[in-house]
Amino acid sequence: MVKNICVIEGDGIGPEVMAEAIKVLNTVAEKYNHKFVYHYCLAGGAAIDKTGKCLPQETLDKVLSADSTLLGAVGGPKWDNESPENRPEKALLGIRKAMQVYANLRPQKLFKELDSPLKANIVGSGIDIMIVRELVSGVYFGQHSESVENTEKTATDIMKYTENEIKRVAKVAFELSLKRSGNLLLVDKANVLATSKLWRKVVGDMAKSYPNVNVSYMYVDNCAMQLIKNPSKIDVILTENMFGDILSDEASAIVGSIGMAGSCSIGDGSRGFYEAIHGSAPDIAGKDIANPIGMISSASMMLKNSFGMFDEAKSIERAIELFIQNGYRTQDIMQPDKKLVKCSEVGDIICSYIIGRS
Ligand code: IPM
Ligand code: MN
Repeated sequence: MVKNICVIEGDGIGPEVMAEAIKVLNTVAEKYNHKFVYHYCLAGGAAIDKTGKCLPQETLDKVLSADSTLLGAVGGPKWDNESPENRPEKALLGIRKAMQVYANLRPQKLFKELDSPLKANIVGSGIDIMIVRELVSGVYFGQHSESVENTEKTATDIMKYTENEIKRVAKVAFELSLKRSGNLLLVDKANVLATSKLWRKVVGDMAKSYPNVNVSYMYVDNCAMQLIKNPSKIDVILTENMFGDILSDEASAIVGSIGMAGSCSIGDGSRGFYEAIHGSAPDIAGKDIANPIGMISSASMMLKNSFGMFDEAKSIERAIELFIQNGYRTQDIMQPDKKLVKCSEVGDIICSYIIGRS
């Protein structure tokens, strides 16, 4: 198969982790006889530096005409004084919105070889959580405004959801639950927010059409607590945009490191947007110590979810497992007596396992 992939390296550690993901994709292409054509585009701080704009039209056009897009990370202190409309993060939100990738899947699984900061008795039977985060609406995309009211500085952010926006992402979560344990947890703040009450109503109504899915409900504050008290009891979480942002960072920390976490954002078609969950990490950029596994696993999710390349994706997942099982570690997941490797070595090691397996 020939696939056109838009590649946005972005800022900070973005280019470093992306280079490793591309090595892995090239190895998969060779082994399985595919052709991946990469279209490198600018977005975020790198785009501001070269074009003045965080999301040039040319990038948006390429993203919308490619088969899928991979993104490293955007942002950094250098661009903190940009206007709110031209901050690097706006590029990310602009791409998500333009692509209408309303369902953001963030799997969080603990490798048994890696350390969780939680106690062993809490980790118990393991952690394997799938967060389904609504990605193109809610407070992220409501109107943000600043004003002066009675001489006092005032700011407003609007959180709004329509029934249809909830339904379409909930459908993704219901379908995923069927493929997993059949348990779906809707996380909201229905004791306070009108939007959350609508989420409960819509999801509750949909549950009638999914007799094999057991739906339960939890307030987001309690969920933040349950994630560290009883993480093994949680399977699929469905939640709105901002709650999903916060809970997915928490969940990635309890499974070892945010550097391990990939993500997949999809909408109605097969085209998707694939980014690691971690940010641009300016403090470690250029040091060759970042963990590219989140980016590599995002690339693997692209093969599976957008291109239907199931064996190919499995071969990457298996290679990541072998990397961990054979004792290789980047700095963020380092343990005593393990082999510390640089970011730029990770892709090569993972590729060697992909080639080695038939
Ligand atoms: C994420 C990030 C982004 C978000 C930022 C960079 C805008 O934190 O993908 O989780 O909040 O969605
Ligand atoms: Mn985040």
